[in-house]
Amino acid sequence: MSERFYITTPIYYVNDMPHIGHIYTTVMADIFARYKRLTGAEVRFLTGTDEHGQKIEKAAASQGIEPIQLADRVVARYHSLWKTLEISHDDFIRTSEDRHKRGVTEIIRRITAAGDIYEGEYEGWYLAADEAFIPDSQVKDGHDIESGRAVERLSEPSYFFRLSAYQEPLLRWYRENPDCIRPRTRYNEVLSFVEGGLRDLSISRTSLKWGVPYPGDEEHVVYVWLDALTNYISALGFGNDNEGPFEKFWPASMHLMGKDILRFHCVYWPAFLMSAGLPLPKQVFGHGWWLRDEAKMSKSIGNVVRPDYLIERFSADALRYFLAREMTFGQDASFSDEAFLERFNADLANALGNTASRTLSMTGRYLDSKVPAVSGNGPVPAAAAAAVASYLEHMEDCEPHRALEGAWQLLKAIDVHIQEQQPWARAKEGDAGRAALENTLYVSLEGLRITALMIEPFMPAIAKNLRHQLGVDDMPRNLGDATSWGGLAEGTAIGKTEPLFPRVDIKAYLKEVQMDTEKEATPKAAEDDLLSIDEFFKTKLVVGTIREAAQVPKSKKLVQLKVDLGEPKLRQLVAGIAERYEAEDLVGRQIVVVANLKPAKLMGVESQGMLLAANLEGAPFLLSPDAEVPPGTVVS
Ligand code: ME8
Ligand code: MG
Repeated sequence: MSERFYITTPIYYVNDMPHIGHIYTTVMADIFARYKRLTGAEVRFLTGTDEHGQKIEKAAASQGIEPIQLADRVVARYHSLWKTLEISHDDFIRTSEDRHKRGVTEIIRRITAAGDIYEGEYEGWYLAADEAFIPDSQVKDGHDIESGRAVERLSEPSYFFRLSAYQEPLLRWYRENPDCIRPRTRYNEVLSFVEGGLRDLSISRTSLKWGVPYPGDEEHVVYVWLDALTNYISALGFGNDNEGPFEKFWPASMHLMGKDILRFHCVYWPAFLMSAGLPLPKQVFGHGWWLRDEAKMSKSIGNVVRPDYLIERFSADALRYFLAREMTFGQDASFSDEAFLERFNADLANALGNTASRTLSMTGRYLDSKVPAVSGNGPVPAAAAAAVASYLEHMEDCEPHRALEGAWQLLKAIDVHIQEQQPWARAKEGDAGRAALENTLYVSLEGLRITALMIEPFMPAIAKNLRHQLGVDDMPRNLGDATSWGGLAEGTAIGKTEPLFPRVDIKAYLKEVQMDTEKEATPKAAEDDLLSIDEFFKTKLVVGTIREAAQVPKSKKLVQLKVDLGEPKLRQLVAGIAERYEAEDLVGRQIVVVANLKPAKLMGVESQGMLLAANLEGAPFLLSPDAEVPPGTVVS
C-alpha cells in the first residue's frame, strides 16, 4: 500500500485580503503535496477559510455588510489567487458550510460525553485580533504586553473545556513523539509552556452571534478556535456519516502554519482530539515569518511586497521558487524586491534558463534536434545521482531550501562540463570531435531531464515547459525510477527552444517600481530625516463624521464627502476610496481627517483636507475611532 499523506494549511481569516504570508504557507504546502505525489504517495491537501468570530463580525460591520458577504468576497479572491499560483489543493473548506458545522457539533458531542465540559462564567481579557483569551498576568493598562494590542474585558456565561486535565497526557504525547512539533525550538517552547500549567478553556460566547450555534444551547456560539481547528476533520467527512475520506486520511501527516498559531495547534487541538477519542496529528510544523526590513522600507524604491505585480511580471513559478529558496524553512526571513530580482537573475535566468537554452540550442544546431546516443561518461551522471539523493533527503527532512540547493548543484555540474568540453569547438572539428560533442550534449540533456523532475513541485509550469523543450512530455514523471540515469532515449526529437526566464535589468526595474510607488504614495520624507514632536503636531488630525457622500462623476475611485469636523461649516473632501466603499454606506461613519492641509482640486472638485486610510496594495481601509466621539475630537 502506498504511503498516505494528508497536509493542511491554516484556514485563513476573511477579515482581510490574502498577502504574502498566506501565499507562503499555501505555496509551501503545495510544494510538499506535489513532492509527495511524485514519490508515489496518496496525497490529500486541504486549505480553506475561517469565517466566524468577533474579528470577522467587526470587519463586516465596519464595511456595512453582512459577515457572509464579506466572506464570499474574500473567498473569491482566495480562489482566484490559488488558481494563479497553481495550488493543487484537493479541497477548500469554509467554516460557514453545513458539513463543517456538523463536524463541530459532533466533536462537541464527543467531548461532552467524555465529561470534559462544564458551565461557568468567563471573566477576563480577550484579544479579538487573535481571537484569544489573555491571562491577567499578560495584560497591562488594557493592552496585551506581548503584542501591545488593545484587549477587551469579557464577562459572560460560558461553557468550559477541562484543558487542565490534559496537561499530563499532552506532556506524554510530546515526550513520546519528539517530532510531533517542528522545528525543535518550537517544540521546546510548547513543552515549557505546558509544563507551566494549563487552565480550563472557555469554548463558547454569548456576546456574539456570528458562529456555529452551540449544540443544545442556542444562546451561545462555539468559540472560534474550537470551530476553526475542527476543519481538519470536518473536511474529511467527520460528523457527516463518514461521507468523506476520514478513515483513510486521518490523522494528518502535517499541519503546516506560521509560528503565530502553533500553540492553538499543539495544545488545544490535541487536547480536543484526545477528549473526543481521536488520533493525534503526526506533525505540526510552525514556519517563520516574512518580515519587511524597516531600513529598506524607508528607501524610496520601497520593498512594498506586491505579489500580484511580481506574478504578473515574473510568473507565479518565479515567486514560488523565491519563497521556497529564500527562507530557511522554519526561520524568519525578510522580503525585498532586490533579493527577489537577484535570485531571479542568478538562479532562474542564469543557472536554470541559460544552461537549458544553451544545451537545447546546440542540440538543434549541431545534432539536428535529435538526442544522441545514451552516455554515462564524465562527471555529470554522478553529479545527478548526488543531487537527487541530496534533494530527496532534504525534502524528507523538511528542508526544501536545501533540496533546491541540491538540484542547483546538478545545473552547476552541467554548466562546468559544457565550459570544459566546449561543444562549439568540438563541432568545428568534424568527425574528430563528434564523440565528445555527442557525449557532452547527451549528459547535459539528461541532466536537465532529471532537473525538471526535481523542480516540478516548486515550479510546475516551468518543469512542464522544460520537459516539452526536451521532447519528453510523455515520459514517466516521478521521483523514483524516473530519476535514474539514461532515461532519455537516443533519437528523441527535442521541441522548439525558447527562453525559460528572460533576464531582468534590475536597475531599470527598480526605477520603474519606484516611479509607480511615487505615483501612488504621498511624498515621503527623506531618509533618516526624523520628525520632531513639534513638527508632527503641525499636522492637525481630527475626527470627523461623514454627513453626505457621493461618487465624483466620471471617476471610478473618487468620492466627494461633506464631513462634520465640529466646525460651523461642513468640510468638503475628495477621497480615492470608491473601489472599496459605496457612497451611501459612508454616511454616518467617523473618519480621521488632516484638517490643515492646503486645499487641492481633484477632477475639478475642491478637497479641503485629507482622510486617513491604511493602504493595502492600493486598497484603502478607513481609520476610525473604536467608539463614537464628538466630531472635531483631536487625534494625537
Ligand atoms: O490565524 N509570514 O488566520 P490568519 C509568514 N484563522 N506567514 C504568515 C505571515 C507572515 N508574515 N502572515 C500570515 C489564522 N502568515 C486562523 C487560523 S487554523 C485552524 C485557523 C500565514 O488569516 C501563517 O501561516 O491570521 C499564519 O499562521 C497564517 O497566515 C495566519 O493566517
Ligand atoms: Mg493572524
